Amino acid sequence: MAIILNGKELSKKVKLRVKREVEKIKGRKPGLAVILVGEEPASKIYVKNKIKSCREVGIRSFPYFLPQNVKTYELLELIGELNASEEVDGILVQLPLPEHIDKEEVINSISPQKDVDGFHPCNMGKLLGGGEGFVPCTPLGIKLLLDYYRISLKGKDVVVVGAGFIVGRPLLALLLREGATVSVCHIHTKDLKKYTKEAEVLISATGVPHLIKEDMVREGAIVIDVGIRKVGDRIVGDVDFERVKEKARAITPVPGGVGPMTVSALLLNTLKAYGINLELKELWHT
Ligand code: GUN
Repeated sequence: MAIILNGKELSKKVKLRVKREVEKIKGRKPGLAVILVGEEPASKIYVKNKIKSCREVGIRSFPYFLPQNVKTYELLELIGELNASEEVDGILVQLPLPEHIDKEEVINSISPQKDVDGFHPCNMGKLLGGGEGFVPCTPLGIKLLLDYYRISLKGKDVVVVGAGFIVGRPLLALLLREGATVSVCHIHTKDLKKYTKEAEVLISATGVPHLIKEDMVREGAIVIDVGIRKVGDRIVGDVDFERVKEKARAITPVPGGVGPMTVSALLLNTLKAYGINLELKELWHT
């Protein structure tokens, strides 16, 4: 039976640590602008969660709910104002954006110093090149969770399933930086199981419910499930948790694993944009 990597518990500890830090600030508190375009139900829930978490820790949030038919130039104008605002330290544009909006242009317009999602090419490039920029929230959340449980990535054979912009690609760069040997599988991978069976650390970020079955996992593997989908009235991940947990050494649950860590990472990035780099080692499991 695997150790359950409890993201919910760690995220509470991180939030408490952030809250204490924000309370110490005498003058202007950190501020995060959150932009949501349209009515996508999952995105609405994520954004509500992010705003609620800001409130819990004393970070000011500036929400912008824009209609589905907003124009790219209108979004660019808003981002221009937020870039210039002295109240706003971080800017987050919830993805995915509607088809008609030029996503690349929008992301490129965010000031790299306020890019708490770490999606600007400047920050993605720093992640690849070894510089000190913003690390995208989900990869950073996964790293924090592994650090907390003292799971090192150095020299590990890590397999990432999913090569998306939000998780797979920045995660590849982060894992390389940590000294892992990384394989990234994706929609065109011919024999997925051939890779996943060999993984000491298996990270799945596809959004395909229960894609990862027990027979695809190596005995004693660390399994990180980034997937989150509603199936009927249940929330399920990419991993067949009930069976895989019998074979893995450690596994994240869904919900309560990576999801809460992503939000914690966003709060840490917002503090960083404000100018505070929190040292979290005191939180790590002994
Ligand atoms: N959509 C899904 N995950 C994310 C994220 O981490 N940031 C943003 N901006 N959009 C997302």
